[in-house]
Amino acid sequence: MSSSSSTSYYPFDVQRLSAIAGASVEGIDLSHPLTQSLTEAILAALDEFHVLCFRNQNLSKEAQYEFTLNFGEIEGHVGELKSGERYPLVHTVTNLDENSGKPTLKPASDGNYFWHTDKSYHEIPSHLTILHALEIPPKGGDTLFANMLLAYEDLTETERQELANLRAIHSWEASRKNTGNRPATKEQIQERPAVSHPLIRTHPNGKKSLYLGAHISHIEGQDYETGRQRLSNLLTRATQEKFTYRHEWRVGDLTLWNNKVLLHKADRNYEMDQHRRILHRTVVKATRPL
Ligand code: OGA
Ligand code: MN
Repeated sequence: MSSSSSTSYYPFDVQRLSAIAGASVEGIDLSHPLTQSLTEAILAALDEFHVLCFRNQNLSKEAQYEFTLNFGEIEGHVGELKSGERYPLVHTVTNLDENSGKPTLKPASDGNYFWHTDKSYHEIPSHLTILHALEIPPKGGDTLFANMLLAYEDLTETERQELANLRAIHSWEASRKNTGNRPATKEQIQERPAVSHPLIRTHPNGKKSLYLGAHISHIEGQDYETGRQRLSNLLTRATQEKFTYRHEWRVGDLTLWNNKVLLHKADRNYEMDQHRRILHRTVVKATRPL
């Protein structure tokens, strides 16, 4: 595939990073206010590539907040720091221990190391997630993205029909269990009761994608264990290497992705207790999955 097939179409230089997902953008500074037409061009490019990586950015938390606002409502978080405080709207994804400040194999929350789509335990989950890389290990510490449009296309017609009307139950509580993290508190469960979403999403352009991941408890109306086994088999298939793009971070990358059509996870392919990995994160709310 030609790497610059779309350069003429967008008002910035886009290079495709893989056939599955991902494109890099050079030559714009996102710390300045965006025009409406640039915002629209970014969203159009995101529709085409699903993951966009803007190189050599240097945004403060305030500037990242302002940049994020261009795309819609910024989401708050149910997750808490060890201190019991909520994650702030622009929060830090890190492998540093909250107490010692040193890299650790088991950071306060490592749910991001499991395949998921952001905030699928919300009735209205996330559209965009924005991560800005401040410190990256010398080797590894990648993020993996799996293209759920392609995973859907890979299903047989019989499977598509079987899955067409199924819904899955997603919850913060299940997510914490599935990822072996500190259990959800009573308050968190009250604030974020379980929700149900279609297993197959239909997008406004008519395309369909699988909607899976670590925030799912079970398949609605089906035997709990049977449903979980089925989901686990689907997830394994949907995240085969042939459906994934591996993002190898550079310091200064500001990466946006579309949670509606992708799963993602951080990879433990680095010396997690030796090297610092620090990214700033914001999340934009989407619409109800159909
Ligand atoms: C996230 C996430 C993955 C990573 O920020 O939502 O899942 O590589 N991050 O840190
Ligand atoms: Mn995530």
